[in-house]
Amino acid sequence: MESIVVREETPIGWVILNRPDKLNSINLKMMVEIESALREIINNDKIKVIIFTGSGKAFSAGADISQFKELDPVKAWEFATKGRELMDYIEKYPKPTIAMINGYALGGGLELALSCDLRIASQSAELGFPEINLGIYPGFGGTQRLVRLIGKGRALEIIMLGDRIKADYAEKIGLVNRVVEPSSLEKEVRELALKLAEKPQTAIKLIKTVVNYGNDAPIMSGLTLESLGWGIAFATEDEKKRVDEFLSKRSK
Ligand code: COA
Repeated sequence: MESIVVREETPIGWVILNRPDKLNSINLKMMVEIESALREIINNDKIKVIIFTGSGKAFSAGADISQFKELDPVKAWEFATKGRELMDYIEKYPKPTIAMINGYALGGGLELALSCDLRIASQSAELGFPEINLGIYPGFGGTQRLVRLIGKGRALEIIMLGDRIKADYAEKIGLVNRVVEPSSLEKEVRELALKLAEKPQTAIKLIKTVVNYGNDAPIMSGLTLESLGWGIAFATEDEKKRVDEFLSKRSK
């Protein structure tokens, strides 16, 4: 791997974007490497949670603009599709994912964070979709995921103005789950990851499936998916063990 670093810190798998001199901007190579790392981790039962972050001062400043001159319309479409498919893969990934936003999360960098389950930002982070200033707009799923996360009005403001927003405001509008001091970012995100890793993994997988696929479907389909998944949870050892434990404590 050249453009990312993958670190196994059981039960956490770190995926660190690693082009710090280019603010971890995302090129094709990086996309391929992220996907291949995730495909490998999927079969590693010891890794229960993924944390994405960036090395240096950025999470990621977005798609690699230096490649744009090579793109004709068809290649641009293919590039956007490749990026979008990677983000879809991350969103539907069966293990929980956290974006540890250590600095700039712009354009494709923010789209990567939006594809994660949880976003924890450093107080010093800045987020945004500056693409409008290049005459384009987010192409890795950002127009759709941002609207669903924070609502149409605020999403359009961010996408149409292209301003960078501060972490505190991002928290206020629900774009990030939590903002923490830069010095405690890693510690807090690690604690969160360890907490997630202790949860019943099949239930986590079911929650992700029901929330992600249910939200895209008519409400009755989403609700039906929820009941079906709820039934499947009763097939797990975790459910049996945890319910027995709860009941036996109370019958003493
Ligand atoms: N693609 C390619 N290279 C990028 C990049 C991107 N999205 N963002 C930053 N870089 C490169 C810069 O070209 C520079 O490389 P160089 O030293 O070889 O010239 C290096 O990263 C550092 O960036 P620089 O602009 O000097 O840092 P800064 O601290 O002054 O500014 C930003 C930081 C994030 C405000 C600025 O880099 C920026 O606006 N980046 C583009 C963001 C963007 O439009 N993203 C959407 C892309 S579709």
